[in-house]
Amino acid sequence: MSMSEKGKLIGIGVGTGDTDLLTLKAVKILKNIPVICSPKSSKEKESIALSIVNPILEKRDDYKRLMVVQPLFPMIEDQKELKKYWDHASDLIANYLDSGRDVAFITLGDPSIFSTFSYVQKRLKDNYIVETIPGITSFTACASAIDMPLVEKNEILTIVPKIDDRLEEIIDYSDCVVLMKASRNTEKLEKIIESRDRNKTIKSIENFNRENENVIDGFSNEKPYLTTTIIKFND
Ligand SMILES: C[S@@+](CC[C@H](N)C(=O)[O-])C[C@H]1O[C@@H](n2cnc3c(N)ncnc32)[C@H](O)[C@@H]1O
Repeated sequence: MSMSEKGKLIGIGVGTGDTDLLTLKAVKILKNIPVICSPKSSKEKESIALSIVNPILEKRDDYKRLMVVQPLFPMIEDQKELKKYWDHASDLIANYLDSGRDVAFITLGDPSIFSTFSYVQKRLKDNYIVETIPGITSFTACASAIDMPLVEKNEILTIVPKIDDRLEEIIDYSDCVVLMKASRNTEKLEKIIESRDRNKTIKSIENFNRENENVIDGFSNEKPYLTTTIIKFND
């Protein structure tokens, strides 16, 4: 079977929660695609990505027949265990692609930023046609919530997924730091920042574009999973 006879895998970035912020291209695909793959972090929780695209899907004439698969991508640290879930999801998607059906893998924000899509993309790209549709990433969406430019002129923006010793090395070169994935250990980051004696504005955006959206001065105490903290140095 040649690649062109198989279905195509399309990774679609769905942004942070506002269906109106989907790209026109994403909407066009979502109106016609036969299979949606929407990862879930646990069996009990609803897929956030799916809730963002649902208003588009529900309007489809074939909505009741639409195939929606929701493989598990649990939030665990064990890499060996995780690989089993990524392999399983990739095999599941490959079955649909082999039957000639296109699959849209929907993912929060943009597919190229800390996305579950990357794990299936790596596994399937040698045997299937894979396309990526960019989405509005969480940190640019969150910047709009606080009406503040992240970087200007030759300033450097640093995206931090985890607070560890690397920060000590790079913070002095950063004009703006974006903290993602509701990192624990923010005390360590606070200490590093305070030791620098630089003017700064710190804002945390929780659940942007969602029901329980909240903008906080400083770091988030609750740290819900959908939290992004923006630290802008003003010197
Ligand atoms: C696994 S990463 C996915 C990032 C995504 N691919 C992107 O482009 O933004 C999840 C992190 O993105 C950030 N995030 C996603 N949606 C958000 C929202 N609605 N409000 C605040 N932060 C959000 C949070 O830091 C969250 O822990």
